[in-house]
Amino acid sequence: MHNFSVTKTTKSRLGDVDFDVIPFGRIFADHMFIIDYEDGEWKNGRIQPYGPIPLSPALSAMHYGQAIFEGMKAYRTHDDRILLFRPLDNHKRLNISAERMCMPQLPEDIFMEALELWLGIDSDWIPSSDGSALYIRPFMIATDDYLGVKPSNKYSFMIYGCPVNAYYTSHLRIRIEDKYVRAAQGGVGYAKAAGNYAAAMYPASLAQKEGYHQLLWTDALEHKYLEELGTSNFFAIINGRLITPEINGTILHGITRDSVLALARELGTTVEERPITVEELLQAAEDGSLTEAFATGTAATLARIEVINYKGKDYTLDVDKHQYALELSEHLNHIKNGRIPDIFGWVHEVEMHTLQV
Ligand code: COI
Repeated sequence: MHNFSVTKTTKSRLGDVDFDVIPFGRIFADHMFIIDYEDGEWKNGRIQPYGPIPLSPALSAMHYGQAIFEGMKAYRTHDDRILLFRPLDNHKRLNISAERMCMPQLPEDIFMEALELWLGIDSDWIPSSDGSALYIRPFMIATDDYLGVKPSNKYSFMIYGCPVNAYYTSHLRIRIEDKYVRAAQGGVGYAKAAGNYAAAMYPASLAQKEGYHQLLWTDALEHKYLEELGTSNFFAIINGRLITPEINGTILHGITRDSVLALARELGTTVEERPITVEELLQAAEDGSLTEAFATGTAATLARIEVINYKGKDYTLDVDKHQYALELSEHLNHIKNGRIPDIFGWVHEVEMHTLQV
């Protein structure tokens, strides 16, 4: 066990929050966790009130981009238990991102103990209504104050959270990108690196100006193969088969993506993880064999896609007929909030004794 220190807030903000109207990502739970890395060791793990942290203007994360993050959720069950969904997979992916960005590995016991301690203290921030959760943002930044370009010697890992509903409030309108590139083979596309999101903002903003929520990225070489969406992975149902781009080094290994695939296989659906061309998708949209399309992500959950645009032409799908996406989404939600048994071993119950801090 680590002896993380705890400094509690003297004034909780919980009473000011209307849980029926929660804007995504703007309201923060009372506390945060921080641990620092220096001289090859993680040290000084602590819980403190959520708030600004002192940063040097020369902080290397801000100049050279050694910054990675995760997104995960905690759910309150109808019988008041607290469940985390696949936290160990988030931990694994954090360390995969850390390796690629030349950052230190964070031991699993630090990740899990910090998470449980913090959740115990801020458990009242976990909403209970259907579709809501406490969105958790673990992240790591380089903290050297040094202007030279080299991997930092010092890092901080932190956790904070926000009560949320689903990220998207309507069905998605997406545009297939045929000019800009999110990730190329050999790059950092598979890492949850802050810079991936920064690089996507300008092309996404162009699509957003034209009324699309997100881009559907294509491969860097030919813009021929589909990759992923701005905040999520992409799925299509073509001729009754559930199809998604394969994990090939340029797309994020989404935990919701993986869960949807496992669940679909369990439900007996034919699943294909393989290259999908833009042409195949559009042809299927034209001839009606594309019956559903959706995005998956921790924040996005499972968001149905209504419009796919390519080179100025909109292909519209009848989202009211997206029965399979709805079924998957409900099934997954029921596993996450403990309403149906979790045969996959995904759900991690936060032990009640850790709630007695
Ligand atoms: C998530 O779904 O957790 C993400 O990280 C996507 C986004 C909010 C950046």
